[in-house]
Amino acid sequence: MTISSQILAFTLIASLCIMQSSGFSIEEATIDGLQLAFKQNQLTSRQLVEFYIRQIHKLNPLLRGVIEVNPDALTLADKADQDRRNKVPGSSVGLHGIPILLKDNIATKDKLNTTAGSLALLGSIVPRDAGVAAKLRKAGAIILGKASLSEWANFRSYGAPSGFCARSGQGKASSNFPNQEFLCCKSLQNPYVLSADPCGSSSGSGISVAANMAAVSLGTETDGSILCPSSANSVVGIKPTVGLTSRAGVIPISPRQDTVGPMCRTVADAVYVLDAIAGFDRNDPATKAGAKYIPRGGYKQFLKPDGLKGKRLGIVRDPFFTSYSGFDHHFQTLRQKGAVLIDNLRITNLGESYSDENLALVTEFKPALNAYLKELIASPVRSLADVIAFNNKFSKQASIEKIKEYGQGIFEEAESIKGFDASYKAALQNLTKISRDGFEKLMRKNKLDALVTPDSSASSILAIGGHPGIVVPAGYDKEGLPFGICFGGLRGSEPKLIEIAYSFEQATNIRRPPSFQA
Ligand SMILES: *[C@@H]1O[C@H](CO)[C@@H](O)[C@H](O)[C@H]1NC(C)=O
Ligand SMILES: *[C@@H]1O[C@H](CO)[C@@H](O)[C@H](O)[C@H]1NC(C)=O
Repeated sequence: MTISSQILAFTLIASLCIMQSSGFSIEEATIDGLQLAFKQNQLTSRQLVEFYIRQIHKLNPLLRGVIEVNPDALTLADKADQDRRNKVPGSSVGLHGIPILLKDNIATKDKLNTTAGSLALLGSIVPRDAGVAAKLRKAGAIILGKASLSEWANFRSYGAPSGFCARSGQGKASSNFPNQEFLCCKSLQNPYVLSADPCGSSSGSGISVAANMAAVSLGTETDGSILCPSSANSVVGIKPTVGLTSRAGVIPISPRQDTVGPMCRTVADAVYVLDAIAGFDRNDPATKAGAKYIPRGGYKQFLKPDGLKGKRLGIVRDPFFTSYSGFDHHFQTLRQKGAVLIDNLRITNLGESYSDENLALVTEFKPALNAYLKELIASPVRSLADVIAFNNKFSKQASIEKIKEYGQGIFEEAESIKGFDASYKAALQNLTKISRDGFEKLMRKNKLDALVTPDSSASSILAIGGHPGIVVPAGYDKEGLPFGICFGGLRGSEPKLIEIAYSFEQATNIRRPPSFQA
């Protein structure tokens, strides 16, 4: 069979499995749809988990979005079904009984490994669930498994492609994919156009929800890692204000910029996930200030179809839209829905942050990672130096040739830095100033509710100030590759961004499931 006929076979088998006897379709179902199906006895959480496990077995050898499936997922599903039957309070709303995939840098205290996609952390034992994982369990979500990622959230090597992950190739060889043994050296695949970049670093989270291998997922972002793969895989990604969601138990890059957020097929699903994970966690001090942003009643109240009415949206054409076409009709839609577009704005200091951000991140990484590794109950590696040594040893094995080729330049640079020196402090001052005189000034001066940009092109300006952004599917190019529209705002502006994103999504309804084009 050629690859494309294999894919066709997958698609056919997949679509045959979607329809339950009742006629309810799991594929593309939203959380609201799933909760309704539970309530009407058309579906159980067990059937739902079984569906996703079948999807993973079929599609993952091709897409490699999932690293591990939770061996306890069906047991957890049975428990959720039992709670619902017994009318346990909270058992028929929100994420209860809904399977979620977590990016593999988010710790779970269960049978799943937490490795940031790296063989160096295989077998490490975490002290406890990550703060967000604990909140998900409390909300009744079923942790279905771990999603693949660009190894170490793309903070290992300057040269590795998005989605490069040593562990994602470890799936079982199947008769359909006799070349499976080589997969460890290939990056993950975009489900829309298989040869295309799925972007990173939360590649697997985007790929997996796009291809209906899970109901919803979590990604993490330091600069672009939710916004970019969400755009590339035609899903909704929320990059929350830094501190709104706990980073405790998340394999870090930078406590100053890291944030955990939902990646889902719809804005409403992403908002339900945000409601479950946002909030104070005593293991992440930044959540104390972050929790003050959470409105009473949470975020779902902002899912308003007319949420664009009266919103002031800024457009900086140069440079954001110079290489993008196809957004003019979206600007039209935004206006039709009642938004005021403040067009042709300028941010004078764009691009100035690049080297300062890089210096800051590379300085912050080592102490943050070492603190994470130190807390582990058991681990083959206890410091960045150990990880570097592991990779050096491992790269001598010819079977993982690519690991050697891509190197670990960022790791080596981070290891060589001795603490928070004067240049680090200068870089931080620069970043604060660039954010204040650039994006923040633009937002305040023009009284903007959001800055509108394509894909993840504004990720750095949001990242350096800890600001939030939401990306929503916005179309497909001539080759069929998805692109997204991003609404970015000031810290704590999630309520407005959700109103804007939801209203845009309801007005355009652009997302369609992937077609696995060769
Ligand atoms: C976790 O990794 C170990 C190898 O150290 C493996 O045996 C185990 O199956 C992994 N767990 C899951 C749930 O895949
Ligand atoms: C900070 O900004 C100043 C002035 O623009 C620049 O000279 C310097 O290289 C920047 N970075 C650091 C780390 O000092």
